[in-house]
Amino acid sequence: MKVTVVGAGAVGASCAEYIAMKDFAAEVVLVDIKEGFAEGKAMDLMQTASLNGFDTKITGTTGDYSKTAGSKVAVITSGIPRKPGMTREELIGINAGIVKEVTENLVKHSPDVIIIVVSNPMDTMAYLVHKTSGLPKERIIGMGGALDSARFKYRLAEALEAPISDVDGMVIAAHSDTGMLPLFSKATRNGVPVSEFLSDEQKASVIEETKVGGATLTKLLGTSAWYAPGAAVSVMVQAILCDHKKMIPCSLMLDGEYGQSDICLGVPAIIGKNGVEKIVNITLTEEEQAKFAEAAQAVREVNGDLKF
Ligand code: NAI
Repeated sequence: MKVTVVGAGAVGASCAEYIAMKDFAAEVVLVDIKEGFAEGKAMDLMQTASLNGFDTKITGTTGDYSKTAGSKVAVITSGIPRKPGMTREELIGINAGIVKEVTENLVKHSPDVIIIVVSNPMDTMAYLVHKTSGLPKERIIGMGGALDSARFKYRLAEALEAPISDVDGMVIAAHSDTGMLPLFSKATRNGVPVSEFLSDEQKASVIEETKVGGATLTKLLGTSAWYAPGAAVSVMVQAILCDHKKMIPCSLMLDGEYGQSDICLGVPAIIGKNGVEKIVNITLTEEEQAKFAEAAQAVREVNGDLKF
């Protein structure tokens, strides 16, 4: 099956690389607006095939969407990333125009496509794709929770001094520094609630470090991260192509779930060959419910800046 990745920059190329390395897709088409850039990234990646042992074919194009025709999944990473000190929300002006135009091109050539939205501010960009693409809501999925949950698990393992494979945890709500909701009440180490092992101070630190996980990396790197975002997308693409029916927190259009409607926010969902197979309803504590509602309010305000 064919996967298109629009934006051959840091996240797009990392995503293509992880997809190819796992060898579950027949073809990955990279698209970029910068002349020759996607073709160059594709050629470089293809020259790793014999070294890394994959058969996925990677091609690149400068804006020729006919090459993306018949894609099962398309990932939108095109747009600008944030610089140190910026919030994701400050990117809306430039990225909304790019995401809208890219979506139109993708749907024209692949009407049955499932779109994964990565460009920031992601919850608002996913909402924009819902409002402008005409695709059913099951086929538009925002990537945020998969990455934020991986960062949560990293911080939990660090605090617990445990191997990452021993810990489990999930982040829902908004993909923003303030609206992220790491579900500490449900985080576990080998099935045991982590609250058994961590002090209140450690708990507060894990939550805060998770929420500013992206900003911390942006400060260190001078731009936003790419390895973990690319890996998170590849897990979602694989869940679709291989029909894993895996539970992944994703930014989805809500219709009453978690008390919200007409908004894209991070919630746990089963991801399989049809895209979103089911939104999973988990019981939140009162405090978590209040934080989820607060995050929704903030995302609604950002959505208000969109012009369709
Ligand atoms: P980057 O600058 O390395 O790559 C973006 C690419 O998009 C560039 O190569 C650029 O030429 C291309 N592009 C711009 N306009 C285009 C168009 N109209 N058509 C095709 N390609 C176009 O940026 P990076 O680091 O890859 O980040 C991409 C986006 O992903 C940013 O908005 C960033 O904030 C977001 N991001 C989201 C994450 C998430 O968890 N949802 C995590 C990390 C980044």
